[in-house]
Amino acid sequence: MESTKISLIRKAPENYRGDLLVYCLHQDEKEKLVMGSTLATKELKKAVALGDFKGKESDLLHIYPQGTGRKKVLAGRILFLGLGKLDGCSQSDLRERFRKAGGSIAAKAAALNAEKICLCLPDISLVPGEVVGECLVEGILLGDYRFLKYKKKETKDPSFTGIKGLGVHAAGGEKGIRRGLSRALHSAYAARAARDMANEPGNGWTPQSFAAYAQELAVKHNMKCTVFDKSHMKRLKMGGILAVNQGSAEPPKMVILEYKTLKKKAQTILIVGKGLTFDSGGVSLKPAAKMEEMKYDMCGGAAALSAMGVVGEEKPDVNVVAIIPATDNMSGSSALKPGDIICHYGGITSEIINTDAEGRLILADALAYGINKFNPTCVVDLATLTGAVILGLGHHRTGLLGNSQELVDRLLLAGENCGELLWQLPLDKEYGEQIDSDVADIKNTGGRPAGTITAAAYLQKFVDDTPWAHLDIAGTAWNFTEKTYIPKGPSGTGVRTLVDLIRNWKKFQG
Ligand code: BES
Ligand code: MN
Ligand code: ZN
Repeated sequence: MESTKISLIRKAPENYRGDLLVYCLHQDEKEKLVMGSTLATKELKKAVALGDFKGKESDLLHIYPQGTGRKKVLAGRILFLGLGKLDGCSQSDLRERFRKAGGSIAAKAAALNAEKICLCLPDISLVPGEVVGECLVEGILLGDYRFLKYKKKETKDPSFTGIKGLGVHAAGGEKGIRRGLSRALHSAYAARAARDMANEPGNGWTPQSFAAYAQELAVKHNMKCTVFDKSHMKRLKMGGILAVNQGSAEPPKMVILEYKTLKKKAQTILIVGKGLTFDSGGVSLKPAAKMEEMKYDMCGGAAALSAMGVVGEEKPDVNVVAIIPATDNMSGSSALKPGDIICHYGGITSEIINTDAEGRLILADALAYGINKFNPTCVVDLATLTGAVILGLGHHRTGLLGNSQELVDRLLLAGENCGELLWQLPLDKEYGEQIDSDVADIKNTGGRPAGTITAAAYLQKFVDDTPWAHLDIAGTAWNFTEKTYIPKGPSGTGVRTLVDLIRNWKKFQG
C-alpha cells in the first residue's frame, strides 16, 4: 500500500482545496457544543439549530460548503465529528477517544472517496495539542488500512485505495505538533507492517521472510542482524525449534536484530516474538474448521520486528534486541511425535505430550539463548500461545504474566496509553507443578486447567531470575474487539505497547 503524505498546513483551512476538511468538536459539561467561529463552523449552525449535530461521541455530519466569493470554504466537503464530553476523562481515555475519532475519519474518507483530506486540530485545554494531533493521526493511519496485494480489484469501493494526502492544521506550537505527528507515523506504520506480515498466507510469509525483513531494517537503520539457519541451530543444540520444524519442508530461521544506543551504560531490553508461520498442530493435528487462521500464529514475531522499525527510526536511549524463532508446524513423515523427548538450548529436557503446544518449544530456545547471549535487563515475549486465553479474556484483552511486577506494571501502563489493554494473570509455583514430567525435566502441556498459565510456567523455566513478562496475544492478534481504527483481520497488537514501553523507558530497578 502506498503511504500517506502528511504535511503541516499553515494557511487558513478555508483555503484548503482538497476533498475533505475535518473539524472535531466536543461538548462542555452541560453537553453544549463547543464551536469556534470559523467560516466552516458557521456552515454548521443550521444543522445544530435543527438538532442534527450535537457533538456526541462519533456524531458525524458532512456538508457541502455553501458560501460564496471570499466567504467560501474551498474544500469539496466539510466533515464535522463529535468527540463527546471530555471533562473527567483520564489522559489515556482521551488518547483513545482521539484515536477512535481518527478511525471514524478514515472510514468516512473511504466512504466519500476522499483521498486528500485536511484535519483541523481542535484546541482542547485538557490535553497538549501535540497529543491530540498524535492520537488523531495515529487513528486515521491505523484505520486507513487495507490489504489488497492479492486482489485484482477491490470489489467494495473500486477506486479508493487509501488516503493519499493528509494535511494537519494546528493553531500553534509547530515543534510539538511535528513531534506528535512523527510518533503517530512511526507507530501506525509499524502496526500496519505487522498486519501486512500477518495477512500474508503461510506460503507468502515464511521464516525466510522474517529474516529478509530484519536484514532490510538492519541496513536501513544501521542495526545488526544475525540469522541462524538449521545447521547453526543444530550446533547450538536448539532442540525446541528443531523439533517443531522436523515435520516441515520449509527451513526454520532464528532471526536476531540488535539496536545499540550510543549512550554509555544503557540497559538492554530483549524482545522475543513467536514467529510460527503456520500452525497445523503437527501430528496432534488441529481440526479443519478455521485452521486457515493459523497463518496468524506469527503475530508475536511480526510485532517484535515491526517495533524494531520504530526503534531504528527513533533511536531511544536503551539497547533493544529482538529475537524471532521462526518455523511452521507441520506433520510430515519425520515430524515430532507425542511421547518424544527433546532437549532445549541450555539443556532442559521436555516430554512432548501434544505437538500442538509448539509455541513454547520455539520460544524456550529463543529465551534461553537471548538471555545467555545478551544478558538483558529484562525480557518481554509476545506469542499467540494458547486458545485458553480466549476462553478467559475473550478478544478484548491480552493475557499478561511475568516474574517481575515492575515490568508487568510498566506493560499494563503502556497498554493503557496506547489502547492495547492487558490483564495480568497469576503465576504461582503450583501452576509450574502441572508441567512436571515422569520421564523428563518438564512436559509441554499441563492439562486443561489454566492452559494460559501453564504455558507461561513453561516459558518461566527458561528465564531464571531475569525480569520477564509474557504477552499471550492469541485473543487480540486478530478478531480483536471492533474499534474504528482496528479493521477486521490482524490488529497489529503488541507493536504499540512495545513502542510505548521503549519510548517511556526509565532506568529499570529490577
Ligand atoms: N497457536 C496456538 C494457540 C491458538 C489457538 C492461537 C487458537 C489462536 C487461536 C497454539 O500453538 C496451540 O495450539 N496451543 C494449544 C495448546 C494445547 C495443545 C496445550 C491450545 O491452546 O489449544
Ligand atoms: Mn499449536
Ligand atoms: Zn501455535
